This record gives sequence, structure tokens and C-alpha cells, in this order.
Amino acid sequence: MTGIRLHAPRPGWSVDADVVVVGSGVAGLTVALRCAAAGAKVTVVTKALLDDGSTRWAQGGIAAALGEGDTPEQHLDDTLVAGAGLCDEEAVRALVTEGPDAVRRLIATGARFDTDADTGAVLLTREGGHHRRRIAHAGGDATGAEISRALVEAVRAAGIETIEHALVLDLLKDADGRAAGVTLHVMGEGERDGVGAVRARAVVLATGGMGQVFSATTNPAVSTGDGVALALRAGAEVSDLEFVQFHPTVLWLGPDAEGQQPLVSEAVRGEGAHLVDANGHRFMVGAHELAELAPRDIVAKGIMRRMQELGAPHMYLDARHFGARMWEQRFPTILAACRAHGIDPVTEPIPVAPAAHYASGGVRTDLAGRSSVPGLYACGEVACTGVHGANRLASNSLLEGLVFAERIAADVTEVLREAGAPPRPAATGTDTGAGTVLAGPKARLEIQRIMSEGAGVLRSRESLDRAAAELARIDDDAAAALEAPGTESWEATNLLLVARVLVAAALRREETRGCHWREDAPDRDDAWRRHLLVTLRPDRTLAVSTTETAAFPPAAAPTPHPPTNGAHPRSTT
Ligand code: SIN
Repeated sequence: MTGIRLHAPRPGWSVDADVVVVGSGVAGLTVALRCAAAGAKVTVVTKALLDDGSTRWAQGGIAAALGEGDTPEQHLDDTLVAGAGLCDEEAVRALVTEGPDAVRRLIATGARFDTDADTGAVLLTREGGHHRRRIAHAGGDATGAEISRALVEAVRAAGIETIEHALVLDLLKDADGRAAGVTLHVMGEGERDGVGAVRARAVVLATGGMGQVFSATTNPAVSTGDGVALALRAGAEVSDLEFVQFHPTVLWLGPDAEGQQPLVSEAVRGEGAHLVDANGHRFMVGAHELAELAPRDIVAKGIMRRMQELGAPHMYLDARHFGARMWEQRFPTILAACRAHGIDPVTEPIPVAPAAHYASGGVRTDLAGRSSVPGLYACGEVACTGVHGANRLASNSLLEGLVFAERIAADVTEVLREAGAPPRPAATGTDTGAGTVLAGPKARLEIQRIMSEGAGVLRSRESLDRAAAELARIDDDAAAALEAPGTESWEATNLLLVARVLVAAALRREETRGCHWREDAPDRDDAWRRHLLVTLRPDRTLAVSTTETAAFPPAAAPTPHPPTNGAHPRSTT
């Protein structure tokens, strides 16, 4: 087996499957359901419980051209504008044209969206960057929880094997370098304790994001970039990691707030809430034609600018005019979260500030979800399909998870039909002696501080250089300390790797575009209308190259095999 791996014990147990899906959000569970329906033996591996991933925290909803008068073409236009010149148009076209039917299939699977009491039509709201009402929601502001409930129920009903509380470690490969399964560590008691392996012909990463690389994020504690780090160690390309979306309106809980912070959905602005400063001034009016509903990067920048002008730690979201009834019916989750922190949105404006929310980049895939490593797929936030460009359009992520999950399932099914005997991993992939050095558990907080200070909403060469140097020091310390394997050190090591890549890419991109804001290069530069691709060399240094254009390689879906997307246009810089 080639590639770099985490320092970990040798697997003590193994199971076989046709497909192993790592992650249990909308992307992972949809892949699992579709592959199982096609007759594949599927194993789902998830880090906490089946319904504990990022999907269940999604509030606003799922965007699709479902409304009267709306068209995929209009959805495409809004997505391209938000993506600030870096979307892969073919990927976006797949998203918006296949999206409406994918949502209908989700409804057929059991997800109950909010509907009009008289007509039964799905109710649609607005969010930033959308020129019309296009966002389907459930339980008012509990869309992700409802989608998660429906998919978990369907997975259980289908009898799909699941392994919970399992941190994925590394990719197994066969003698030809094709993915042959994963190693993982299961926390708990029982037959499958400790490090084991799932051997499979296809590996689908659906591990979600990496928000925990920053101090304050809307992401749950499990979002430590495990999928991107695994893919890098396995030799796969990652792209666009510099484009971290900061959600403009996250409940501000004080200057030292750490970890997952409560989101105040953009749908609150979609229903008419105003962003104001401490003087009640609506600072987004006049700043953009869509005011508070401008694309997310523009609103986040507007908030940051006003905070800087006034020397204020946060701004306010004012939706007192909704009244108690609307708050209770339309936004019960947000109302409860605010009240739990002593703020009553019915009678007072909500203090808000931007926090890390979504990784627009990730493991580079083609339109069938195939990474540059044969047999390794990526889906959902962990992937970079080219759909989001430099800034994801609000509520496109659940849709991306759905649409590309179906594309992956179609491709995997075809691969399985053609395949002979299951591949045997060339090696177990882990042993006690040869893995990469591990960062210690304490590194997590340090990495978060470094990234928040140096690579947050506002960046500059100076702040990024500082961050790069501090991360390098943590890496050196890890080499000297010889940390023991364990969940906390594996997670910290993953965070360190994705942080290094993010900073390297942010340093290289000397312009301001989408959610990448360089104070020292404040303009968009068309010479940078291309993607940065990063791989990990065997000596763990980073190789950074660029594509020629904003387009990723031609669509490969639905076949042929094996994947060819390592051959896309690029130039090394
Ligand atoms: C929100 O509800 O504001 C978040 C939606 C999203 O991130 O797409």
C-alpha cells in the first residue's frame, strides 16, 4: 500500500461489503439507500450516532426550482453569481436540473416538508442570493432534522449494516492502487472494539465538513475534516479549501465562545428580518441590491466592515416585528436556542456575528463523484464537485448531497456489475510502527486559535504567514513528542493537515473572491479564475497546482470506468 497513514494499531477485526459509506448525513444515507436498492451490500460507518452529523443541524432548507414560475435556469444563474466566477457550470447544471426530482424522491422516501394547508403545495422561503422563493423547509426551521429522521428510518427499514461511534482512519488499497476499504476505530464495548477494517470494492466519503478547524463554528464537534485528511493521505487531490464560508448570522455568545455555536438561519432574513447596528441603522441597505439577502459572503463582509467601523464585537438581527406567533410556528428551533441563552427575539434584537459554517472545497471529484483515486468517491460537504465555486449559494448543500449521491450510486452500481471477485487490500494499512506522527489532543484548541486569528473572515499575507509558521511548529512538536494513537490525537492530526492545506491555498490565492477575503489583495483578479489543487507528497509536504480555467474536467457520469479525472487541465505554479 502506498500513501501516508495515521499511526494506529493493526486492525483486529474486519467485515466485508460491496460499498462502504463513511458518514450518515443526507449524502451518505442517500448513497447507501440507492446502492442497497440496486442490490449492493452496503456498510455505513458513522462517527457518532446515525443521526448525529451536520445534516441534522441544517435549518433553512433545501433549494430547488419547485415553485411556480421558477426554472432550473434561474437557479443556475443565482448559483453562478454566488460562486463568484469559480463554479463548474456543468456541475451546477446537473445540480439544478436533477434537483427538483431528487427532492421529490426524498419526499417519497418519507421526508415531510412544510406544505400549504389548503393546496398541499410545498412551502418555499427565500435566502441570501436567491432571487425568488426557492427553499423548501420542514418543521419550520428544522429541515435537516426531518431529512435525517426520514433517511435514518429508511436505512433501518432497508436493513443496511451500520457501525456507529467509528472514526475512519485510512484508506485501504489493492495491489493496483484502487480503493479496497477503510480502517476505522470503534469506540465502545463489544465485538468490534478498537481498530478494524471494512473491506469493500467502493469507498464513499460523506464525512461532512471541517468547521472545527476554527474556534467558533456552526458545525458539530465531529466535523474535524477526517474525510479530506484521509483522502490526502491516500494520494487524492483536494481543491478550493481556501473558500470557507462564514455564516453571517450566528448567535453571538461572547468573545470567548468556542465550538459549535447556534445558527440563526438566513431564512429569518428571508422572511423579513433586518440587520442593524447598535444604533438601529440597516447597514446592508444600499450596500447591495438584495440588501440583507445578498449572497452570504457579501453579507458576512458587510457585517465585519460595520463591526470594524464601530469597534463592535457583533451586529444585531431584528425580527421583533414577526411577533410571538410567527416566531413560535416558523422558527421554533432558533427561538428556543435564543431563549436558552437569555435572548428573546420577540422583544429584542438578536446579537449576531459571522462564524465558520461550510467548506466550499474538499476532495476533488468529477460529476460521478469519483476522486482522483480509483474506487474512492466523495459526496456532500467533504467533496468539491465544482458546484459551489468560491461561495456556496444558501441551501444548495443538502441538494448537492442528494443529487450527487444518486450519481455516485449509479456509478458504483455499474462498477459492481463489471467487477469480479472483491479486491483484497494489499496491506492492512496500519501497524504500530510506520504511521505518520500524531498531533497531541491539546493541539486542537491551538489550531483553532491560530486559524481563527490568521485565516478567518479577514486574511492577509502577514496573518497567513503567521498561521503557517505556527502550524509548522505544531507539526514539529508532534514529531518530537511521539503522541500515542487515540481518537483525540487522530482528530487533532486531521485538523492540523486540513489547516495546513487551507492556509497554503489561502496564501497562494492573492486576490479577494467569494468567501476568500485578502485585505492585502482586495480586488478580484481574473488571472485567478481557476482552482487550486493540493496533494500530499510522501514526505508530507504539500504540492499545490492550478487548473487552467474555472471548469473542472468534462463530465464523466454515468460511466466509463475506471475514473480518469486525474487528467484534467492544470498547470503547476
Ligand atoms: C441557513 O439556514 O441559514 C443555513 C442554510 C445553508 O447553510 O445553506
